[in-house]
Amino acid sequence: MKRELAAVYDEMVRRQKAGEKSIFLSDEAVDLLKEASQEAPVAVPESMVFEPVPRPKKTAKKAAKKPLVDVPDPAAFELADGDKQSRWEALREHVLGDAWCQSQVKPGKKVVFGVGSLDSRIFFCGEAPGQEEEIEGEPFVGPAGQLLTKIIQAMGLQRKDIYIGNIMNYRPPMTTPVGNRAPELNEMAYCLPYLKAQLEIIQPEVIVTLGNTAVEGLLGRDPKRKISRIRGQWFEFDGIPLIPTFHPSYLLRNQSMTTKRLVWEDMLSIMDKLDMPVSEKQRAFFK
Ligand code: URA
Repeated sequence: MKRELAAVYDEMVRRQKAGEKSIFLSDEAVDLLKEASQEAPVAVPESMVFEPVPRPKKTAKKAAKKPLVDVPDPAAFELADGDKQSRWEALREHVLGDAWCQSQVKPGKKVVFGVGSLDSRIFFCGEAPGQEEEIEGEPFVGPAGQLLTKIIQAMGLQRKDIYIGNIMNYRPPMTTPVGNRAPELNEMAYCLPYLKAQLEIIQPEVIVTLGNTAVEGLLGRDPKRKISRIRGQWFEFDGIPLIPTFHPSYLLRNQSMTTKRLVWEDMLSIMDKLDMPVSEKQRAFFK
């Protein structure tokens, strides 16, 4: 090993003479040199001591994924003055007439705005209208919506007393005739000011996001914030307590008692937060 060390030494001296002030040594090379120097200690002249140079950082950035749809920046708009009802009506009219949203729906289909009580303490927030919703022009009217209505009733409430909306005001356009596609972040960003405006009018005490996409739309995309991990935990959006739970369409696909129980626990958590009465029977659901 002494011979190899001497060769390394000669090479370093040669480079130093050539004007190099530092060299890069990989971790493996450092380990090998350490090992060799322990095996056969040699006197290392001071001139040979180099400051370790940090491994150069990779600078090449991953090419940004091209968005599926080029979406304009959200158009500036001002919420009208007045009482809740008139502000909400003006907002609804504005959103239904939004040229970009209109351009994204197929002929005969509708832009969809939130529905329900403007005095609701709870704002259920889904991701985007689906096939049935864009026909009716109302959020959550398909099978997932019917299940949502049952969940609301199990809480001792009526659908009409609750506010239900989506981040998106239109069904994300697809090339296939059936199925739904999750909205992209830029599509949700376009509609977000409309959701915020609804929140400003209604001033709910709790936002319930339904499914992963709604969480991403409101809290931002974060791989550590998957719905199965964070459901039932309390977050905040614009100063309003927010609790994510599973999307009812997930419940329709996954009929396990455990999943139903988890969603029901989230509802109990909301009821507790709002000091709503909870009967023994309600506490014992799915037990
Ligand atoms: N899924 C949603 O997220 N929203 C709807 O309105 C319908 C289905």
